[in-house]
Amino acid sequence: MSRPSLKWCLPALALVILAVISSASRAGEPQVIEISARRFEFVPSRITVRRGETVTLRLRSQDVAHGFYMKPLGIDATIEPGKSIDVTLTPKVPGSYTVICDHFCGAGHGNMHMEIIVE
Ligand code: CUA
Repeated sequence: MSRPSLKWCLPALALVILAVISSASRAGEPQVIEISARRFEFVPSRITVRRGETVTLRLRSQDVAHGFYMKPLGIDATIEPGKSIDVTLTPKVPGSYTVICDHFCGAGHGNMHMEIIVE
């Protein structure tokens, strides 16, 4: 049985080291979920996050100012057009949470909402 040559071992070792380094650097940073707001919806309309895991919601408006409000999750933000706003949360209690737009944005304002599922 021949031993694998050094020529093949080194690139494989380098890949393993790179994988370890990149997963270590990702571990400390919250996952970022991009959410787009526009009359009269949020896209995506539903996201799932894990209990106890910190996530950053990166909110952007495509048209006018919208609200982003869900009291039990501690979320109360205004999404101004042309700006991006980050909301970071670490949900503690599993469940389904409805985030509403609480900033009047037009005729369909009352139907503008999305779900955050915490599992
Ligand atoms: Cu969007 Cu009210």
